[in-house]
Amino acid sequence: MVASVKKESVVTVPGHLAVIMDGNGRWARRKALPRQAGHRAGIKPVRAMVEHCAKLGVKHLTLFTFSSENWKRPGEEIRLLMALFVEALNSEVDELDQNGIKLTFMGEIDRLHPTLQETIRVAEARTRNNGGMELTLAVAYGGRGDLVSAARRLAREVAAGMIDPEEIDEARYAEALQMAKLPDVDLLIRTGGERRI
Ligand code: IPE
Ligand code: MG
Repeated sequence: MVASVKKESVVTVPGHLAVIMDGNGRWARRKALPRQAGHRAGIKPVRAMVEHCAKLGVKHLTLFTFSSENWKRPGEEIRLLMALFVEALNSEVDELDQNGIKLTFMGEIDRLHPTLQETIRVAEARTRNNGGMELTLAVAYGGRGDLVSAARRLAREVAAGMIDPEEIDEARYAEALQMAKLPDVDLLIRTGGERRI
């Protein structure tokens, strides 16, 4: 149980912890509640996790929330999820800021509802200079999509004569990836019980 974690009993703390947030719908179904109730109930454990990670000295916490695959969900569920994001961000940003947490986002942010985009901009700007844990929310993010965008960007640079194909190495490719702006992940957790990334 999270509440029983004692700082002195922890030997190694991951520098970068990433969590794929999954299982909201199944949680709700078990309780005979609508999926949306599961999404809403997910906010509380996320809050607790952020608090504990910051206390334990985790440097980077990345939460994979709405993935690019989730665009296939019914429009109504997407709308509710986006509204929940706006609501949660607005209500948490003060406390996150007071605790020195720096909020960053990755994913296809420009595909999100304008209100959410604005909330994201405000949250990032507010916490930009904070020196505590960096909390990255992946929204409308997909690892494969990130690889494709990076390849396109490098291809455009080659086509424009800005770089030579031979100059593309691991470091150069990493620069073009959103995920590589963060240090490598030390521990990846997927909630909900499925074993896949
Ligand atoms: C994760 O829970 C929340 C988001 C993807 C936003 P799911 O909605 O995927 O819940 P399950 O997997 O159907 O239980
Ligand atoms: Mg799921």
